[in-house]
Amino acid sequence: MTLLDGKELASKIKAEITKEVATMIDRGEKAPHLAAVLVGEDPASQTYVNSKEKNSREVGMISSVYRYPASISERELLEVVDFLNEDGEIDGFIVQLPLPRHIDEQKVIERILPSKDIDGFHPVNLGRMMLGLPAFLPATPMGIMTLLERYGVETKGKYCVVLGRSHIVGTPVSILLSRKASPGNCTVTLCHSLTTDIPKITREADILVVAMGKQHFVGAGMVKKDAVVIDVGMHRIPDETKKSGFRLTGDVDFDAVARKCSAITPVPGGVGPMTIVSLLQNTLKAVTR
Ligand code: GUN
Repeated sequence: MTLLDGKELASKIKAEITKEVATMIDRGEKAPHLAAVLVGEDPASQTYVNSKEKNSREVGMISSVYRYPASISERELLEVVDFLNEDGEIDGFIVQLPLPRHIDEQKVIERILPSKDIDGFHPVNLGRMMLGLPAFLPATPMGIMTLLERYGVETKGKYCVVLGRSHIVGTPVSILLSRKASPGNCTVTLCHSLTTDIPKITREADILVVAMGKQHFVGAGMVKKDAVVIDVGMHRIPDETKKSGFRLTGDVDFDAVARKCSAITPVPGGVGPMTIVSLLQNTLKAVTR
């Protein structure tokens, strides 16, 4: 069984990005600058944004975080987006999701200039991705594709099942896996909350991508022998032995499934670090485009 070690691969790719940033600076160019907008106090969002900030600084990029209370109005947030769109110092930015319920997320995403949309959530980038044109790819699906590529997982002609149809992960990864590209060229089934008999479908999968948001949803009985399993889930479980008071676990029952599959991503240390590194790769792309 191969452990698809996202932490190790992400640190390798970060070293490559660090070199590239240093070369840009040596050439007299400015360091790439990414920004994040964080609204409210959601702990998971804070963790993500802190990690993005830490990682971007580690590779020599400039990172800014714009924090606002959950009470910010939609109009004010749209003005923040306009400001970042116009700021020539900032190469790309993200607005961390979810946003408070009184703000229309889609409206905010559509306000971001596609050329600065390093999350790849704008309809222009998603449309270009679907057509196989150059685009910013959403960070988590991109990280999954990089993991498959760099670990040499053959995707051509494979049957791939994706669990979950979110705009951030499930839907875009299903498109990337089915595209005429390498990695890609899979036959893909996208399952969701209204799919009947999910285990019957997952048991056929050569590659199983799990992004349901349900802790330990996938057990060994749902997985074909020697399948490749990608776990996108991230759940906090109270754990007094940890300094933070919790530990992380995924949508897959790792111990049980690891005994049956040929390769699997751990949680933490699998898809998560690859997401961050993909955002850094998109920031470099934002500069060079
Ligand atoms: N919330 C959870 N994942 C993401 C992500 O990749 N980008 C943004 N902006 N928000 C998120």
